[in-house]
Amino acid sequence: MRLLVLGGTHFLGRHVVAAALDRGHEVATFTRGVSGAPPAGARALHGDRDDPAALPAALGGWAPEAVVDTSCQSRAAARNAAAALGDVRGYAFVSSLNAYAGWPPGPIGPEDGEPTWESDAEEYGPVKAEAERVLAAAHPGRFLTARAGLIAGPFDDVDRLGWWLRRIAAGGPVVVPDALDQPIAAVDARDLAGWLVDAAAAGRAGAVNATGPAGMTTLGGLLELCREVTGGDARWVPVPEEELLAAGVEPWVHLPLWLPRETARTAWDVDTTRARELGLPSRPLRETVADTWAWLQTVDALPEPPHGLPRPGLPRELEAVLLAVR
Ligand SMILES: NC(=O)c1ccc[n+]([C@@H]2O[C@H](COP(=O)([O-])OP(=O)(O)OC[C@H]3O[C@@H](n4cnc5c(N)ncnc54)[C@H](OP(=O)(O)O)[C@@H]3O)[C@@H](O)[C@H]2O)c1
Repeated sequence: MRLLVLGGTHFLGRHVVAAALDRGHEVATFTRGVSGAPPAGARALHGDRDDPAALPAALGGWAPEAVVDTSCQSRAAARNAAAALGDVRGYAFVSSLNAYAGWPPGPIGPEDGEPTWESDAEEYGPVKAEAERVLAAAHPGRFLTARAGLIAGPFDDVDRLGWWLRRIAAGGPVVVPDALDQPIAAVDARDLAGWLVDAAAAGRAGAVNATGPAGMTTLGGLLELCREVTGGDARWVPVPEEELLAAGVEPWVHLPLWLPRETARTAWDVDTTRARELGLPSRPLRETVADTWAWLQTVDALPEPPHGLPRPGLPRELEAVLLAVR
């Protein structure tokens, strides 16, 4: 099958390309060509998807049969893909739980009963929600939107888990939120990638909460895996939420994956029944953590986080302030 990957040179997109090549598909990627190349074996097409003329020009006579879209971050990008790719037999789109109006917090029940954003705001969630609508209308009955939660694994340039791994490997006292029992869920990028390829090839339709099963782990469980995998002598120094916030520690950013108590209580209470019915795998989290650590050992310079996201991590001076009083 001829598969077009919109994206394909970074984290999730790279794994999509690898999974598609493994399955014997003929693969082309479409990116601007400014931030990397796809894995060997894929044909690299170039252009800016915000430009309506770029994708048709890059495709030339090559007619994809299915699409996996990992790179949509604007309304124009969705409109242009809808116009250029209306006749494919399957379109799998990477959206986000942020497409749900008001998430986080949750809980998020079955997909069809949950409202998504209806807003003109140029923000991540509303843009993903609008992109879903535009692309679904162009591919009736053959458009699947994967509302991803936290994606983790090798090649993760967002670097939330990566920062924890490096910090914990460095050892010594490590500031952690005192709410280590807060639930968290993640999907391995490789599990999601292979499943997206198969969904596009099969022309599957509908919305799917594409994240790990509710209750799969806690923040403390994940950090413990980081300690085991890196083998360091890190010692947790739990700090109460009020103190973290008062010191200017930004949830999710300075202490990646940490959410304030009230949000965390339900944020990862997401119904993934449909994902499981449709065969989205969920490999052991230890494997995700270990493979991300192994990949980090091979990286000389960390790639820039994508689409303007801040580099996560607790600034050393903030960490020193919090440790000094303990
Ligand atoms: N990380 C998470 O935990 C998380 C959670 C929920 C959802 N998501 C979603 O998951 C997806 C992750 O995708 P990803 O890791 O494969 O990659 P990504 O970082 O979102 O996408 C980057 C890719 O898109 C290309 N690109 C960027 N702007 C472009 C443009 N204007 N025209 C054409 N190509 C463009 C880039 O290549 P060039 O720079 O060379 O153009 C690169 O290949 C995203 O859609 C994200 O919103 C992520």
